[in-house]
Amino acid sequence: MQHILLTGGSGFIGSNFVRFVLRHRPDCKVTNLDALTYSGNPQNLADLEEDPRYKFVHGSINDMELVQSLLPDMDAVVHMAAESHVDRSILDARPFVETNVLGTMTLLDAMRRVDPGNQKRFIHVSTDEVYGDLPLDQPNLKFNETTPYAPSSPYSASKAGSDMLVRAYHHTFGMNICITNCSNNFGPYQFPEKVIPLFVTNLIEGQKVPLYGDGSNVRDWLHVDDHCEAVLAVLENGAAGETYNIGGNNERSNLQLTHAILEVMGKGKDMIEHVKDRLGHDRRYAIDATKIKTDLGWEPTRSAWPAALESTVKWYIDNEPWWRNVKSGAYREYYNKQYARR
Ligand code: NAD
Ligand code: TYD
Repeated sequence: MQHILLTGGSGFIGSNFVRFVLRHRPDCKVTNLDALTYSGNPQNLADLEEDPRYKFVHGSINDMELVQSLLPDMDAVVHMAAESHVDRSILDARPFVETNVLGTMTLLDAMRRVDPGNQKRFIHVSTDEVYGDLPLDQPNLKFNETTPYAPSSPYSASKAGSDMLVRAYHHTFGMNICITNCSNNFGPYQFPEKVIPLFVTNLIEGQKVPLYGDGSNVRDWLHVDDHCEAVLAVLENGAAGETYNIGGNNERSNLQLTHAILEVMGKGKDMIEHVKDRLGHDRRYAIDATKIKTDLGWEPTRSAWPAALESTVKWYIDNEPWWRNVKSGAYREYYNKQYARR
């Protein structure tokens, strides 16, 4: 039986990963170390509270003593804990450096102390945003694993910093690591500051959707279950020291995305509000996922639209108490502040 220490398991991708692993690897155990920041939500895993294979530990990846006390029982670490939103990093970069860079370093140092022989695996979940952005007029260009890093937001700079540390710990100490760089995820339990759940829940509430700039920016949309499957494939079969890009093969401009959401929800284009562009807004992300297909036999099977978008919209319609709770209180204040800036 494999016992995984998952960091950030109460967030969007983490909670989907816990469910995915326990469903597809019934002999596995998952311990979730999560600080429950604004985006960590115990409700995301409420259905697993009684499952003996799942354990929650409330704490920070920056707590060296706590991390060290958890590691001896683990076979592997899957590291997802992070500050994850570009717009927040533009408001204040400090928590991004503290969690994404220093937190990752603390985990790596704890691994070295507990496991000097490098028996345990460490999978670092990162983003395609570390590669910077691509021009809109050269659709054949995509990021592959040798694309030089050129992060442009404080968020992506902090993730790039963490990736570099992970690589350095492999090179210097021989740690048994892999890095995954994936594109934009979508699916259930995503915090409604990210564009898809924000737009869908705004429309359910009868509010307009704030589209940044002219809406020409392009993202590659990956269903979270495809992402979870890919991370599991890397955990089980990735080669030590390697990086794997993970994409949905599903590029859309934000305008196309918005029109698709409006269509699924039966709303008109008058619900779009063009607002001031994000500072330093990356134009296009696109993933070349040849390596993970060739080396590990993984490719996306759940990300294609319209079906994947329709089922995601339906999840938010069916789970209104979940997002109404998340959108209340502190988050509402944050959203109104962001909105007022536009
Ligand atoms: P999220 O914001 O929904 O969840 C982050 C989780 O980390 C939360 O549960 C939070 O409480 C926890 N956390 C934050 N600081 C912590 C700390 N110091 N100690 C312990 N836990 C802490 O983020 P997400 O969208 O699920 O992203 C998960 C990972 O995937 C991140 O590393 C992110 O950079 C990466 N990623 C996300 C996307 C995406 O589209 N969402 C795309 C590429 C990569
Ligand atoms: P987001 O979900 O924040 O992810 P990321 O910035 O990591 O790609 O944004 C996805 C795209 O949607 C991005 O190009 C910015 C745009 N966007 C809007 O147009 N309006 C919004 O209110 C938000 C949050 C994002």
